[in-house]
Amino acid sequence: MKVIYTKNELFSLIEGYKKEGKCVGFVPTMGALHNGHLSLVKACKNSCDIAVTSVFVNPTQFNDPEDLKRYPRTPEKDAELLKTAGCDLVFMPSVEEIYPEKDTRKFDFGYLETVMEGAKRPGHFNGVGQVVSRLFDIVQPHKAFFGMKDFQQVAIIKNMVNQLKYNIEIIPCPIVREESGLALSSRNALLEEEHKKNAPHIYATLKKARNLVAEMSVADLKKWITEEINNNPYLETEYVEIVDDTTLKVIENWNEKGTKVVCVAVYAGKIRLIDNIIL
Ligand code: PAJ
Repeated sequence: MKVIYTKNELFSLIEGYKKEGKCVGFVPTMGALHNGHLSLVKACKNSCDIAVTSVFVNPTQFNDPEDLKRYPRTPEKDAELLKTAGCDLVFMPSVEEIYPEKDTRKFDFGYLETVMEGAKRPGHFNGVGQVVSRLFDIVQPHKAFFGMKDFQQVAIIKNMVNQLKYNIEIIPCPIVREESGLALSSRNALLEEEHKKNAPHIYATLKKARNLVAEMSVADLKKWITEEINNNPYLETEYVEIVDDTTLKVIENWNEKGTKVVCVAVYAGKIRLIDNIIL
């Protein structure tokens, strides 16, 4: 496995692989890697010849400067883990390498950016669009792998791929959880002990909710989930939404067509966690 710091070196290595007819897969990350990230790298290596991973904490997608400051950074450990997962090339650029000058592009993701994470984190998805498009331009992969933990992000990336006409297949991958049910997240490392102990209550509630669909209206189920999570003194919901899995349109009635997914954002102390479950 090679660790690469500049876009020119990465671009020319990948160009070489492509000339040999190799399929190139790509997993963008912000590092502080865990088994969720590694599952994407393994899926990538399973379906492509070359697995490229980027580790870059993208400043333009953080709407809260404190969140950016405290975001965990563990580059040496990340490189070790990536090696064991079968990664071929790791790209660890500096901020200047990705943004030699300020990126002033404004994406229009329409309705997709008006709900949930888009509503609560203004500018977040614009920053995601900026960095992922720059990374796609450098790597130009055949396939790119994203976790369904960031459910809305997958919809945003698919929309961006259509808008910018990238010839890249977007592969959504399942959520990896701790044994407790807590969805793995780099932010879990920042949880205080009591919050960490109580955070699995989020997924436990989502699982129970799946069994209540037949018994309640959409509005009542949302209310039930909110109360059930907030009854735990260590947790506070920011939003609970039930949406269509592709359009992200908020569901009002169970009769509506399509697959439905419950998405939540929950504060455990100062740390904001997101999770979702397909109904
Ligand atoms: P990051 O939060 O590091 O996540 C990188 C990828 O890992 C994302 O596709 C995310 O959905 C996936 N992932 C995280 N936790 C997971 C879990 N428990 N199970 C499965 N997949 C999981 O998402 C980002 O970084 C950034 O927004 C990025 C796309 C890299 C752009 O900066």
